Amino acid sequence: MTDYEKLGAFYLGKRYDMGAGGLTDDLVLYDSKDLTTHAVIIGMTGSGKTGLGIDLIEEAAIDRIPVIAIDPKGDLGNLLLSFPDLKGADLEPWVNRTEAENMGLSPADYATQQAEFWRKGMAEWDQGVERIAKLRDAAEFAIYTPGSTAGTPIAVLRSFAVPPEAIRTDADLFRERVQTTATSVLALLGMEVDPLTSREHILLANVLQRAWAAGTDLDLARLIAQVQDPPFETIGVMALEQVFPKKDRFGFAMQLNNLLAAPGFEAWMQGVPLDASRLLFTESGKPRVSVLSIAHLGDQERMFFVTMLLNDLIGWMRQQPGTGTLRAILYMDEVAGYLPPVANPASKPPFLTLLKQARAFGLGVVLSTQNPADLDYKALSNAGTWFLGRLQAERDKARVMEGLEGVTQSGRFDRNAMEQLIAGLGKRTFLLHSVHESMPEVFQTRWTMSYLAGPLTREQIRKLSPGAGQPVAAATKPTSATSSAVSPVTDPAAGPPAVPPGVPQFHLPATGADVTWIPGVLGVADVAYGNAKLAIDRSERVVHVAPFVEGPVAVDWGEADALEIGAEHIAEGAPAEGRFGRVPAAVTAKGLAEWQKSYARWLRTSQALTLYRSVSLRVLSTPGESERDFRMRLQQEAREQRDTRVAALREKYAPKVQALQAKLQAARDRIAREQGEASADKLQTAVSMGSAILGAFLGRRKLSSTNLSRMGTAARGMGRMQKSSGDVARAEGSAEQVEARLAALEQEIEAEIGKVESGFDAQQEPLETVSVKPKAGALNVHAVGLVWLPWRETPAGRQPAWSA
Ligand SMILES: Nc1ncnc2c1ncn2[C@@H]1O[C@H](COP(=O)(O)OP(=O)(O)O)[C@@H](O)[C@H]1O
Ligand SMILES: [Mg+2]
Repeated sequence: MTDYEKLGAFYLGKRYDMGAGGLTDDLVLYDSKDLTTHAVIIGMTGSGKTGLGIDLIEEAAIDRIPVIAIDPKGDLGNLLLSFPDLKGADLEPWVNRTEAENMGLSPADYATQQAEFWRKGMAEWDQGVERIAKLRDAAEFAIYTPGSTAGTPIAVLRSFAVPPEAIRTDADLFRERVQTTATSVLALLGMEVDPLTSREHILLANVLQRAWAAGTDLDLARLIAQVQDPPFETIGVMALEQVFPKKDRFGFAMQLNNLLAAPGFEAWMQGVPLDASRLLFTESGKPRVSVLSIAHLGDQERMFFVTMLLNDLIGWMRQQPGTGTLRAILYMDEVAGYLPPVANPASKPPFLTLLKQARAFGLGVVLSTQNPADLDYKALSNAGTWFLGRLQAERDKARVMEGLEGVTQSGRFDRNAMEQLIAGLGKRTFLLHSVHESMPEVFQTRWTMSYLAGPLTREQIRKLSPGAGQPVAAATKPTSATSSAVSPVTDPAAGPPAVPPGVPQFHLPATGADVTWIPGVLGVADVAYGNAKLAIDRSERVVHVAPFVEGPVAVDWGEADALEIGAEHIAEGAPAEGRFGRVPAAVTAKGLAEWQKSYARWLRTSQALTLYRSVSLRVLSTPGESERDFRMRLQQEAREQRDTRVAALREKYAPKVQALQAKLQAARDRIAREQGEASADKLQTAVSMGSAILGAFLGRRKLSSTNLSRMGTAARGMGRMQKSSGDVARAEGSAEQVEARLAALEQEIEAEIGKVESGFDAQQEPLETVSVKPKAGALNVHAVGLVWLPWRETPAGRQPAWSA
């Protein structure tokens, strides 16, 4: 019963027969790649939306697809409540105490009962507890609480970092990022403004835009400083002083500053950085299910956080290669207010951008809401999949019908039938409409593996967040070698120290004044690599700085650090002012010649490219691709191969199965005619495939004629002609033959499915390393000389004062 996992299909539930009013045994398997065209879940409170969302997320996790789940109500934390043993003790901390009391049970006894109840529920949906182990193994589950230390906080405000290249080079995306950041910061201040006329908005956007265009990160402190004293004098064609006089700017800066000083605000500054890549994958590239719990936040704070998160996610997305296979999911429960039809909150532009662009990158967006009126029409019509649950108000039903009619091919929409279906939906029952399927289908959601305990308390969230409440150290970037330098001795008034003639000098641009210049040895070179077999032909500019050390050899390139700074940012000559470190005695023209030689020698041996190769997929990493990135890519590659394989199988077998099923139907009809029977029900169930998985796999897409018979074409004229038993026997004989052929075909398909590579785990994949040495003779050393590195003394020690 686990074969559907091989197919990249999400097991969402079983078909519900609206006519007969009962659950069938037909699995509803949703093709994961259909989710790249996004989905909406609509249904009244209690209709089972969150349960369906959790089903979807669990299925994604099993397929090692990472998920970011935004949780405004606090229900999604339940995704962390899955226990491979499903024992009472596992559930005890999470069960509802009041309910236990009402039933006159101790929490422990109630938990045991609940564990049994859950086990039974899962079993009824053909899921053994071993599936929970599989789920836990496939992904890492984490809960974050932005703006609060109850769980793991997210440092949203630590930096307004320069957006990635992919955003900066796209004028529309860059403008959107600037505008939505400004809007969301103002939202945090409680200011809902018109971006076109509000001077606060215009000023913030200008400050952000100019800093980012220049490649400078901002933090809140610098943002405040720049609001008071912007590094520009005009806005558009008007003088800054006219648009927003200094006195007023001061007031605005104060407002921002008060935000900083507000109690509890430091929670926005600590924790893991807001980084979509880190929310989607662990350090080693294992997929994550990250629940972002925002139930504790006020409306404005929620808007701020969601917008910043969506912006970052867009940046991540744009750095991914294109794919037709699902790569990641963004799920949002209760999306009301974030993507409304008329108003234009900060979150709306990035949401619309995601719905428009995410498909190409394999990012599926799933939005859940109670009321169709909460969703922008463009969002609704852009969604390829609709899960429609029970709706209460007639108005809601009407709106959903309109929307559905709009996205359904004309001529195929039967409004009356659809209205009836929707009106009859019960709890956990959804109408699945998908642009990828031939017709809609009603199903009941499968039992979740996660224990649905309801909203979690602060204490419960804390328990689920190891390391929560502890401030997380900021990432430091000082490099070992460049910091172990000689102590400064010069008087700032004295200027740069004398350096022997013939030794070229360089310095790195300092960020800010009041720095101490420490000398090191700079090396800049081009290193070339060539390997025809591996299709590698590239040249790289490298920049190194080696420290001066005490001892007979003053410069050891083995101690050098590669600088992540472009050679073009290195200035020639000594810096004009500051405190300077002592120039070591080893700095001479003769020493320089020696460093040049040893640099070239060292580059040849130390600069080999290390590439990884996947043993089973035979894929090679690209130069500069980290092991984490490579493993993430391998997982996606395996999924793409699987999807291609599955599509080919379906292509190959669906018509064959369809043809045989039609034949069988005809043979059965004949028997019925011969016997004078017309029990349509019996016939229909008999025609469906022997295996529920195959039925679902081949079922809805191609076999529309079978579907039609399934949906009930009972009213087929059947004569009541009594025939001789010989005719009956002949008809039965031919039906049996077709049945046998169908059974053989089924076996063949099963065998083919069995051969589909599945369960590929990039985390466990053995990697070979391939080393490519620099091309001999193609080494080009551009510069070697004395370099001055700016450092700043801080209470926390000496920090680099140059930007990467
Ligand atoms: N897939 C499911 N498996 C088990 N129980 C479910 C499932 N879906 C819903 N339920 C039950 O129904 C209740 C209401 O469903 P829920 O998904 O929270 O509705 P909604 O999100 O639409 O308000 C849940 O608290 C849970 O007890
Ligand atoms: Mg819900």
